[in-house]
Amino acid sequence: MGFLEGKKIVIMGVANKRSIAMGCANAMIEQGAELIYTYQNERMKKSVAKLVDESALLVECDVADDASIASAFQVIENKVGKIDGVVHSVAFAKKEELSGNVTDISRDGYALAQDISSYSLLAVSKYALPILNENSAIVSLSYLGAVRAIPNYNMMGIAKAALESAIRYLAAELAPKGVRVNGISAGAIKTLAVTGVKDYQKLIQLSEERTPDKVGVTIEEVGNTCAFLMSPLSSGIVGDIVYVDKGVHLT
Ligand SMILES: NC(=O)c1ccc[n+]([C@@H]2O[C@H](COP(=O)([O-])OP(=O)(O)OC[C@H]3O[C@@H](n4cnc5c(N)ncnc54)[C@H](O)[C@@H]3O)[C@@H](O)[C@H]2O)c1
Repeated sequence: MGFLEGKKIVIMGVANKRSIAMGCANAMIEQGAELIYTYQNERMKKSVAKLVDESALLVECDVADDASIASAFQVIENKVGKIDGVVHSVAFAKKEELSGNVTDISRDGYALAQDISSYSLLAVSKYALPILNENSAIVSLSYLGAVRAIPNYNMMGIAKAALESAIRYLAAELAPKGVRVNGISAGAIKTLAVTGVKDYQKLIQLSEERTPDKVGVTIEEVGNTCAFLMSPLSSGIVGDIVYVDKGVHLT
């Protein structure tokens, strides 16, 4: 029996088979979880539908829109009732904010990246809370650029710093309500999102060269940690950022 047997978990952010959310989904299914997938828009729906079990519930949720988040969790409650957790694997910044100088980041670009990549965790948690069971968990995805100045990661690093802080504040608020909130700081992996960063190959190269076996972390490894953090096995971990990067952050 898997350690997520009987748990219903919402997974946000599957875009394609390379998505970190897909690694998380597969690991949680392996441990017995029943998943509900949210997708950003109709185009993403088609992509997600090809990847998941045809009986799985797919729900639209644009995290830039409160009404969409509210409606998504209403649909989820109507269809499956209470849930045991949410995985937030969502981020966005305009390409021009992921290169050059941070002094050139526009006010609009800053607000947009923060809105989708950081604020959305607070909004999603707000609308999920009424349908979360006791002993639930929320996990979000961060990157080393939150705490170091990584070339070209720029705006997303600033947004990830805010996200990591939001994780700690949320964790403190929701722990007494039986909801643990944590983050995973994943090593660089070639996904759709990372290709928005100028010279992203260098990020991936850095994440490979600094590992003991020169092989970068995989979505399966990140997914396994996600499954653990969503489960009662991690009951002692609250408001933490767990590095799943094969030691890249050490040097
Ligand atoms: N790939 C990496 O190297 C890496 C490393 C550390 C952390 N992360 C983080 O992992 C998470 C997942 O990214 P990924 O690398 O798997 O890329 P991805 O492109 O596969 O996933 C990003 C997801 O964000 C979703 N999204 C963007 N705007 C949205 C909106 N308005 N509403 C709903 N969904 C929206 C997209 O639809 C997509 O599914 C992100 O938070 C990313 O910053 C990625």
